[in-house]
Amino acid sequence: MKTNLPLDADRLWADVMALADITDPVRPYTRRSFTALFLEGRAWLAQRFAEAGLVTRIDTAGNLIGRIEGNNPELGVIAIGSHSDTVPSGGRFDGIAGVATGLEIVRALRQSGARLDHTIEIIDFLAEEPSEYGLSCVGSRGMTGSLDGKMLDLTEPGGETLRDALRRVGGNPDRLIEAKRNDISAFLELHIEQGIVLESRSLDVGVVTSIVGIRRIEIVFQGEADHAGTTPMALRHDALAAAANTVAAVRRVAEQLAAEGENYFVATVGILTVEPSASNIVPGRCRLVIDARTTNPELTARFVGTIDLESAAHAAAAKVTRPKFETLSDGPPVACDPDLRAALRQGAHDLGLGEMDLPSGAGHDAAFMSRIAPSAMVFVPCRKGKSHAPEEWADREAIAAGAAVIYQAVRALDQSLPRSRGGEAA
Ligand code: GLV
Ligand code: MN
Ligand code: MN
Repeated sequence: MKTNLPLDADRLWADVMALADITDPVRPYTRRSFTALFLEGRAWLAQRFAEAGLVTRIDTAGNLIGRIEGNNPELGVIAIGSHSDTVPSGGRFDGIAGVATGLEIVRALRQSGARLDHTIEIIDFLAEEPSEYGLSCVGSRGMTGSLDGKMLDLTEPGGETLRDALRRVGGNPDRLIEAKRNDISAFLELHIEQGIVLESRSLDVGVVTSIVGIRRIEIVFQGEADHAGTTPMALRHDALAAAANTVAAVRRVAEQLAAEGENYFVATVGILTVEPSASNIVPGRCRLVIDARTTNPELTARFVGTIDLESAAHAAAAKVTRPKFETLSDGPPVACDPDLRAALRQGAHDLGLGEMDLPSGAGHDAAFMSRIAPSAMVFVPCRKGKSHAPEEWADREAIAAGAAVIYQAVRALDQSLPRSRGGEAA
């Protein structure tokens, strides 16, 4: 273990574990955005922010923000953040490690007696994971002016709109424009790698080069629910028959695109609902959501074109209709900022840590933040690359090492970032 880090590894670890404890007890580690547990986690975080001397608020996009003023307000903000929501039965580290890192950096800076020229903000972005409303990165979309009225109209199965849910967690959808920022000079995010590269090479940190673009598509097949015993095969309108063939097509087409070899491409059907879902009823309606990711949007365009044709053909063959084939969200791949990456690499060298450049196949708030500010990320190793599962694990020392790299970079960037900024402070 590295002992000469400029921050307190135990204090950082204690925060990660305490937040992990705020979980649905029957489904660890679940703290879905917009739920009572999520709000409990946020109340706990806000308390910790305040104890660290941060002035805390929730912006109109529902992001929890802690702020400490710098010596020179005109220089703008160095922001550090990630998300405190989880996937269903998720892990203790995805997102949380990045928020706790920001908090620990502020405490370590205060302890060292340093007051930076830049203002520092720690951000817990709202709903990074796809929520029950069908959208991911709600808070970082809002902060970057990328959350539109159509997205706010999305509803969860119970009928509540995202617009109303945003109000419920302290945001204000009628004044979203106020969440849009033009005063952020740099954004940094620590995250577990969610892959096995760093662990397999025994490296301490990954400096992220780029983040994949993600497109999510919703397809609905409408057939007719009928008696499973008395309806002859030739007379059925089975929505699941069309959906199942579409799922198979998603896999086959994605494998073909990935095999072309030049670009990263993966696609997943992670949501498939069957109605009425009874063993003795022919499925009347099916809904599926495809998640397609790439470093080259041209592949996604080809993928969507093929799946559009194939799913229409599978609907016709099953004698059902396809009332919906709709893009829910579409984010392009982004490159991390070269100057920030250099500062992170330098930070790792200063601390004697092993690092490498690494692309991200997972989506992150940093992808949206790069629309309004230079942004970069540090990955830390996680056991067997496992994530979005309760077994997700990152060592105390691994998180502390990644956090220390960001600490070093923040101190260096405070001096090296351009002294005149394009935008006005918001
Ligand atoms: C975020 O967790 C993602 O879906 O990549
Ligand atoms: Mn995640
Ligand atoms: Mn995450």
